[in-house]
Amino acid sequence: MANPTTIQPAEGKLGILLPGLGAVATTFIAGVLAMRQGLAAPIGSLTQTGTVRLGKRTEGRSPKIKDFVPLAGLDDLVFGGWDIFPEDTYQAALKAGVLDARLLDQVRPEMEAIRPWPAVFDNKYCKRLHGEHRKKGANWMDLAEQLMKDITDFKAKHGISRMVMIWCASTEIYLQPTEVHATVAAFEKGLRDNDPNIAPSMVYAYAAIKMGIPYANGAPNLSGDVPALVELARELKVPICGKDFKTGQTLMKTILAPGFKARLLGVNGWFSTNILGNRDGEVLDDPESFKTKEESKLSVLSSILQPHLYPELYENLYHKVRINYYPPRGDNKESWDNIDIFGWLGYPMQIKINFLCRDSILAAPIVLDLALFLDLAGRTGMRGIQEWLSFYFKSPQHAPGLYAEHDLFIQLMKLKNTLRYLKGEELITHLGIEYYD
Ligand SMILES: NC(=O)c1ccc[n+]([C@@H]2O[C@H](COP(=O)([O-])OP(=O)(O)OC[C@H]3O[C@@H](n4cnc5c(N)ncnc54)[C@H](O)[C@@H]3O)[C@@H](O)[C@H]2O)c1
Repeated sequence: MANPTTIQPAEGKLGILLPGLGAVATTFIAGVLAMRQGLAAPIGSLTQTGTVRLGKRTEGRSPKIKDFVPLAGLDDLVFGGWDIFPEDTYQAALKAGVLDARLLDQVRPEMEAIRPWPAVFDNKYCKRLHGEHRKKGANWMDLAEQLMKDITDFKAKHGISRMVMIWCASTEIYLQPTEVHATVAAFEKGLRDNDPNIAPSMVYAYAAIKMGIPYANGAPNLSGDVPALVELARELKVPICGKDFKTGQTLMKTILAPGFKARLLGVNGWFSTNILGNRDGEVLDDPESFKTKEESKLSVLSSILQPHLYPELYENLYHKVRINYYPPRGDNKESWDNIDIFGWLGYPMQIKINFLCRDSILAAPIVLDLALFLDLAGRTGMRGIQEWLSFYFKSPQHAPGLYAEHDLFIQLMKLKNTLRYLKGEELITHLGIEYYD
């Protein structure tokens, strides 16, 4: 066994800072509050329900992850956040229409007490939303300092010992890294000069990292995924990860595509379409926000199927993704996939998937797990990009020069091996030859 890493204990309260108190964030908060009262079980959460096998298969050691590594308990979580709409989280959850009013009523006083702070927002980066609950400031740097003040006040008010920030706000328009994102010095100058290549989500990420707060990005916009912020996170020993929670149709893709590749079945077409009626769907109805999402969704298949290694199977894959805003469905997204595959002698076959999912129900446990694992990473001294958390993302943030690992099963193995590594347990390779000696 290797030496275990020193992990600071999870003592005191953990503050969870959420830019964007919409459908995902309120479903997450209400769920945790309901679980504290014993009203619901944490289904879908690896930190709460998952186990990790240790040692040989003959040893029978498979503790729950939360009993294996020291994670903050649900009773120790405190929530705070920002939004451009001033409603408290009870009202916002009612409006989001994800959860049943009977459940929400049981956590109503606590949710009413969580009221958003004014947001850093600019319509240029998110065109379909119109809310006035915003900060005013001389420049991005001034706004970042106002965010830091909110955070400092929140910490003092609730006697919080540690914090994490998870971006649950709307998807911003498509931006690419430029000069201003290249170094910390250029970025900080850009904040002072109000550079238009800096988006609000980057201002939040900067505020968090600057304060030593681990940061995750649940949306596909760049946010913390620019060289300057990665550099700052490394310098200040802050763990960061992103982007875009892996739920719904993309989750299905990263479950199925590794299976096709494992069996060397060819794929020449994958057509995906969705109908979605929540505010997220409305934001994504804007072509510039959709472009950000589309890039995130498209990268998954080619990265898993590796057409450069298997040209005869995947070189001609035509991949199309559509999102259609359709208000009657609210958060209950419906997706259809038509997959054209081929097998022995090139004979074609088709697979149809019709997933009637609930977006925020799939995303909420991801927010919980990311908050607890990022806090663990912080207490362990891990810094910069946390690739072991790519399990949760459609576009995993990764080191330059590497390709992202999208295969859900490899991602899970990476995550669990990281936990074993931290605790000095043997890594599991699944070789298993020793059982047959
Ligand atoms: N639900 C899922 O399955 C899923 C999966 C992957 C990614 N996401 C992403 O997660 C994010 C949240 O999804 P949702 O369904 O909760 O959307 P939502 O529209 O219900 O909530 C987003 C909230 O963010 C607020 N907001 C927008 N810009 C802001 C800013 N600059 N500062 C503070 N608040 C701001 C909006 O007013 C809104 O209340 C979206 O970007 C979405 O694309 C969701």
